[in-house]
Amino acid sequence: MTQTPKSLTVKDLTKVFQTPEGPTTAVRDVNFEIEGNTFFTMLGPSGCGKTTTLRMIAGLETVTSGDLLLDGEDFRRKNAFERNIGMVFQSYALFPHMTVFENVAYGMRLRKAPETLIRERVTETLAMLRLDGLEKRHPADLSGGQQQRVSIGRALVYRPDILLLDEPLANLDAKLRVEMRDEIRRLQKTLGVMALYVTHDQEEAMAISDRIAVFSKGRLMQLGAPYEIYTHPTSVFVADFIGKANFFLVTLDGDAVVAPNGARFGGLPVVQTVDEDEWFDRTDALMMCRPEKMWLVAASERTGDTGFEGRATRIQFLGTFVRYLIESDQARSDVIVDLPAFAPGVSEGDAVRFGPAKDGMVFRKATK
Ligand SMILES: Nc1ncnc2c1ncn2[C@@H]1O[C@H](COP(=O)(O)OP(=O)(O)OP(=O)(O)O)[C@@H](O)[C@H]1O
Ligand SMILES: [Mg+2]
Repeated sequence: MTQTPKSLTVKDLTKVFQTPEGPTTAVRDVNFEIEGNTFFTMLGPSGCGKTTTLRMIAGLETVTSGDLLLDGEDFRRKNAFERNIGMVFQSYALFPHMTVFENVAYGMRLRKAPETLIRERVTETLAMLRLDGLEKRHPADLSGGQQQRVSIGRALVYRPDILLLDEPLANLDAKLRVEMRDEIRRLQKTLGVMALYVTHDQEEAMAISDRIAVFSKGRLMQLGAPYEIYTHPTSVFVADFIGKANFFLVTLDGDAVVAPNGARFGGLPVVQTVDEDEWFDRTDALMMCRPEKMWLVAASERTGDTGFEGRATRIQFLGTFVRYLIESDQARSDVIVDLPAFAPGVSEGDAVRFGPAKDGMVFRKATK
């Protein structure tokens, strides 16, 4: 039951809402393309325009400007029903008075499918979602995870071209969330259906997605595979939002990066960012390094590198690594260094030196 691969193109998509405070732009010039059975995730903090984008694609919200194309064909004028899109909501939105079977069958009844096909598809879908045996129950008599499965079944039963999921796991406990996200990805790959998923949880996005679109304030900041976005962020916002990142206050002297204590670092890539100026309130350039890519020694220890200076305020043994939390006026906020083992001679409260062991990069404030 694999689907024919489709391609979705979102071009200069913009949404302006009229509010009592005046017009607000919820989505601004968003562009992306999704091919075939890609698992595509829109990730970003609350209010960045994820749901609005999804609702415009679903036909539940009008488009202010821009294009939506399915296999090159404009589908903006089609209503939600004609678009053949399956949507899963955070709130499940199941019909409480209907059985599991009837909830899942609903989309096919709307489409006036013959009874035999409905039976066949619903049975097949329930089995796929491991809900067989629960056909006659009502939503109130199911667990949260089972209710979520029914809502996914309801969206999948008529073989939509695109499956849209808006924070479908937000109401589940942490363990079930991890189980269900693997389940959703497995189903999506088995069916070969395109998935457009929304979450504000970066770890969930990394685990489930083929590609991630990171949003901030209605704009698409970066698009790429989880590994690309983590290792090559193009903005301070993305570096900070995905995983943990340390930001050091530096200045640029030709090709060299200079720390406040005069330490120089060569050979680091310098990226001109599109970030807002608020990140650069104390300096025009920030060196970024991930916690696991840092070195750290006791301040008294002699090494070839000068690095940065600070004080270890907390040392946490976390099983597979040791985490050092460091106060330093040379960084934008507290520094995190993760080492595979304890640093010799460093106790809580001690002065330490640290710096990028590899893969550091520098963000330079955008010039106006
Ligand atoms: N119907 C509406 N009328 C006016 N403003 C709206 C409307 N719907 C959304 N907005 C505004 O548009 C912006 C984007 O909202 P949206 O719901 O798309 O964010 P989101 O990324 O889904 O956030 P969350 O993670 O909290 O669900 C917000 O500033 C919101 O207040
Ligand atoms: Mg939302």
